[in-house]
Amino acid sequence: MRKYRAICLSCSPRKGGNTDVMVRKVSETLTGSGVAVEFVRTADLKLSPCDACWHCSGTGHCRVNDDMQAIYPRLMQADAVVIGSPVHMGHSVSGQAQIFLDRTFALWHQKRLTDKIGGAIAVSNRRGTMGAVKVINGTLLAHHIMVAGYATGYGLAPGDVSQDARALKEAEALGRRVYQLMTAMGR
Ligand SMILES: Cc1cc2nc3c(=O)[nH]c(=O)nc-3n(C[C@H](O)[C@H](O)[C@H](O)COP(=O)(O)O)c2cc1C
Repeated sequence: MRKYRAICLSCSPRKGGNTDVMVRKVSETLTGSGVAVEFVRTADLKLSPCDACWHCSGTGHCRVNDDMQAIYPRLMQADAVVIGSPVHMGHSVSGQAQIFLDRTFALWHQKRLTDKIGGAIAVSNRRGTMGAVKVINGTLLAHHIMVAGYATGYGLAPGDVSQDARALKEAEALGRRVYQLMTAMGR
């Protein structure tokens, strides 16, 4: 049997921040089930915003030449895509997350991510996690990705969410659910 693959992306600008902690928890759960997991911090990449040129609508190819070009094949090869973001400014994802989500437009036209399994992580100090979950999982659904669920956590300083036992449990449960759906799909 071939090994399942997952790509888990943390879209916080802060290295070692709360989103990293939560996304790593999902990654560890999947790794524990034998999945080959790639953990990616979008802040480590050079990602430019979508410039709305619409080149991708006819070609399925993004003409913006940056690190996203290396991410496209990895998204297409993965069986599961998990995306995490901090809440920034009330109810939405970080700028880094929105740039990443917009750049997946190139794969949307031909539905290149259809039937993969997806999930969302959102972390905030106090408010807005469900708004961020909605943004992430809404994008996954637009790609015809099957959404396994979400996990939310709370904390302000980097690492605070490690004290949020409920959040870590949710992240673990999301990892288990992603694995369950991957295997149920018999991909
Ligand atoms: C620009 C910015 C906007 C933020 N807006 C909110 C907010 O609206 N609500 C909230 O509860 N926390 C807000 N926060 C706090 C972060 O969501 C919180 O610190 C989170 O744990 C950061 O995750 P990270 O460590 O992965 O970056 C904001 C932080 C920044 C930098």
